[in-house]
Amino acid sequence: MSEHYFTESPTSDAKTRELSLELAGHQVTVETASGTFSPTRLDLGTAVLLRHLPAPEPGDLLDLGCGWGPIALDAALEAKDTEVDVRVWALDVNSRSLDTTRKNAQRLGLSSISPVTAAEIPADLEFQTIRSNPPIRVGKEALHDLLTTWIPRLAPGGRADLVVSKNLGADSLHTWLIDTLGEGFDVVRTGSSKGYRVLTVHRD
Ligand SMILES: C[S@@+](CC[C@H](N)C(=O)[O-])C[C@H]1O[C@@H](n2cnc3c(N)ncnc32)[C@H](O)[C@@H]1O
Repeated sequence: MSEHYFTESPTSDAKTRELSLELAGHQVTVETASGTFSPTRLDLGTAVLLRHLPAPEPGDLLDLGCGWGPIALDAALEAKDTEVDVRVWALDVNSRSLDTTRKNAQRLGLSSISPVTAAEIPADLEFQTIRSNPPIRVGKEALHDLLTTWIPRLAPGGRADLVVSKNLGADSLHTWLIDTLGEGFDVVRTGSSKGYRVLTVHRD
């Protein structure tokens, strides 16, 4: 049986491949591995998200569900170019995703990226920025748990950007986020392209 990309410890052989792509205006070559999300190309939703993001703010940035690391790598490259002090926490449940992100960060000389499991993130840490192409396929309950765990960890004045396919429920997730986060959070659609929505959460 094939494994899900969100399997914690993939048991299938890791077939690695190199991928050349542009991130934060740099032509880069990264490694991807089977058993992780979208190993053959930059996911279209992630590409839409990256095009809609502002420059990273100084502080802690969470890449929620990092896969092989495109969102974390993009943020760290841009922060390095602009000399903004950003610490990137690349979080995933899949150990192979974390290994691949670690190798890619090393390969691109990006020491600001820490690939981590949830248990490795200090419990009192608040994030200036959260970015995610969230794992819709884990199911609604697990997705909601994930978002209610991490989005309230935005620091005051912080911002989260999520990309979700319209066909996979972006608009109902938008309504759910408004209802669930409640006062102190503002949720707006800041982008819509190629069947994807970018939802942005601001914390007061
Ligand atoms: C849609 S993929 C996006 C991957 C990567 N950010 C990208 O854009 O290519 C979602 C990721 O969330 C991860 N994930 C699933 N459940 C998770 C959880 N509970 N905590 C953290 N990451 C999780 C999956 O393993 C997967 O790598």
